[in-house]
Order: sequence, then structure tokens, then C-alpha cells
Amino acid sequence: MSRKKIAVLVSGGGTNLQALIDAQGRGEIVNGEITAVISSAPEVYALERAAKAGIPGYVLDRKSYPSSQAMTVALVEKLRELSIDVVVMAGFMTIVTKELFEVYENAIINIHPALIPSFAGPGCFGLHVHEKALACGVKVSGATVHFVTEECDAGPIILQKAVDVLPDDTPETLQRRIMEQCEWKLLPQAVSLFCQDRLKVEGRTVKILDV
Ligand code: GAR
Repeated sequence: MSRKKIAVLVSGGGTNLQALIDAQGRGEIVNGEITAVISSAPEVYALERAAKAGIPGYVLDRKSYPSSQAMTVALVEKLRELSIDVVVMAGFMTIVTKELFEVYENAIINIHPALIPSFAGPGCFGLHVHEKALACGVKVSGATVHFVTEECDAGPIILQKAVDVLPDDTPETLQRRIMEQCEWKLLPQAVSLFCQDRLKVEGRTVKILDV
């Protein structure tokens, strides 16, 4: 089994990128290595995290492309040039088009800060997700790691974890709890499973294979 090259796509602060970098440092990304961090915006803190970890960072500024499709084509070109095997969206807030899914079928992993299919789909990103969850009065929320397909937030689910919603929660406190207890754990786990060829997609279901 060849060692997999991982590209992490980011748009902001990059705490999930940091969780991946830290997991890699502890030897927990088995059979994989983060070889590129690609940002959809310049000067985001995630790029500093990459630089500190000695990982090459690249910027494909969404604003400098006329359409999502044009940006996706440039992204695919960059991923191919870098011989990337698996694409991880870690707080990547840019819409991508079919050109990416055609090349990386069942090889794009996304972290979403809710229990899909709740609070998912177009317009559900970042803090908005937690605002919606609180407005709905749910008693649990959490995070989902899933494969990315053309339909927004609807690809096969790899891992999910729930936390309680507390009576005094604000969107910010709920977001933080979900990051700490769910996202930063699930994303490295899922990436490591992928790199070991332990994720088998059957329709909408992902089977996790034993070693
Ligand atoms: C994370 O909570 C991530 O799950 C979410 O944005 C935040 C990025 O934080 N992603 C989405 O909402 C995607 N629909 P980070 O930059 O600190 O990792």
C-alpha cells in the first residue's frame, strides 16, 4: 500500500488543519502525509499554521477567478501537479464543481459541524450552523465527516459524534464544544482510515474495514 499524499483545503483559521498537523506529529495519520495546504483566500491564519509545520502552502484566491468552475479547474490542476491522493476540506468555504469530483471520486473528505442531514446544505457553514441548531431547540448536535459528492453535504457519511446542547449555549460556545469534542478528533481519525484503505463506500454507506 503506497503512502498517501494529503492536501488540506482551508479558508480561515484552520483549527481543523492544526488538529491534523498535531495528529500527524503523534504518528496518528497512518500511511499518509500532509504534503500541501491550499487556501481559497490569501493571508488566512491556516497558512501560518502550515508554514510553522513546514508544510508548503498555496493560495488559489477565489476572488481572482471569474467563476467557481474556473477556480475548480485551477484547483484540480494544482492537485494533479502535486500528485495528491486525498483532498481534505477543513473549513473550506468555497463552492467547487464537478471537475473535482470526476478526478477525486470518493477521495474528498469534508468536516461539517452538525449531525448531517440536520443543519446541512447550501448556506449552512461556520457559525450559522450552530445558530440554526439553537434556533431549532435541539438537545444534541455534533459533527460529521463525509465524502464530498456533487450534492452539497450529502455524500456518504464516514464518522459522526454527538455532544449535548446546554441550556446556556450560545452559537460560539456550542461551536467550541463541537470543535473540541468532535471535529478535532473525528477528522484525523477519518483521514487515517482513508490512508489505510479502510473505508469502503457502498451506496450511501461507508463500511469501516478492520485492519
Ligand atoms: C469548522 O467548524 C468546520 O466544521 C466548519 O467551519 C469551521 C472551520 O474552522 N465547516 C463548515 O461549516 C463547512 N460547511 P477551522 O478553520 O478553525 O477549521
